[in-house]
Amino acid sequence: MPVNLRGRHFLKLLDYTPAEIRYLLDLAAEFKRMKRNGVPHRYLEGKNIVLLFEKTSTRTRCSFEVAGMDLGCGVTYLDPGSSQMGKKESIADTARVLGRMYDGIEYRGFDQTIVDELARYAGVPVWNGLTNQFHPTQMLADVMTIEENLGSVKGKNFTFMGDARNNVANSLMVVSAKLGMNFTACGPKELWPEESLVAECKKIAAENGCTIRMTDDVKEGAADADVIYTDIWVSMGEPDEIWTKRIALLKDYQVNKELMANAKPTAIFMHCLPSFHDTKTTIGADIAKKFGITEMEVTDEVFESKQSKVFDEAENRMHTIKAVIYATLC
Ligand code: CP
Ligand code: NVA
Repeated sequence: MPVNLRGRHFLKLLDYTPAEIRYLLDLAAEFKRMKRNGVPHRYLEGKNIVLLFEKTSTRTRCSFEVAGMDLGCGVTYLDPGSSQMGKKESIADTARVLGRMYDGIEYRGFDQTIVDELARYAGVPVWNGLTNQFHPTQMLADVMTIEENLGSVKGKNFTFMGDARNNVANSLMVVSAKLGMNFTACGPKELWPEESLVAECKKIAAENGCTIRMTDDVKEGAADADVIYTDIWVSMGEPDEIWTKRIALLKDYQVNKELMANAKPTAIFMHCLPSFHDTKTTIGADIAKKFGITEMEVTDEVFESKQSKVFDEAENRMHTIKAVIYATLC
């Protein structure tokens, strides 16, 4: 069946079929080729998009800006302090105002219900640039990166190490189930994904010939993995006080050389970034002073190793976000 995503929101990958995800990935690969070869692709001239950020960002913001500009769109960025939304204007009213002026709206912020409400009222496509529950645009870049390095995702063993119930881990479980990749969440039991989401993903995985499993055993989690993935231990929006507890819970799940040695020799390391792999950030330096640890979710050695594909992954954010903008607005 032909895929047509014009006018669709992009809120979470649970709403998308495997064929629709495949279509976006193929389109992204085509845009990457065009960008590399200097082929202009200003297919959306005359359109305008707005980027509404209630949390900070480097990759997602820059990807939407560059992708939008490459496609010929006008782009407006609203930072966490400079719109009326929430303080003086409801989400529904903001959506109706922005929908009158723009052809598409990106939202990064807090609860998934906010992006869902924007979508209900906007009248134009709304794209989720990260909520507390999901980070769907990140997933397209991650799959693209795995395919570039390992050929395909189907049948591969993917392990997420650490805070396995955060937005990135939830989304990775969904995309794995949709595309036939065996997903392992490896972390302490209290940080496993919500049971209802696990059950939903297990059902989808069964349809696509793959498995979803949870383990708190690091050796078992890393064994035979094709991809080892991790994310920061405390996500945006979580209170600073939680660091003490998270470090205690997650220090044994740090991705280091020993852990990587337990995966397949061909395994790659991935991280959505930003990452605390040294003390060259204010938070990294502060944690080192308070807790005496200089590397957190991944060691500098693994982060800088040949197995690490984190900067390919970051670049692919732009190509895949371009595919989402184009497919939903063209
Ligand atoms: N991976 C990612 O979403 O990065 P930013 O927070 O910099 O957008
Ligand atoms: N889990 C992280 C992802 C950042 C891209 C966060 O929400 O802060």
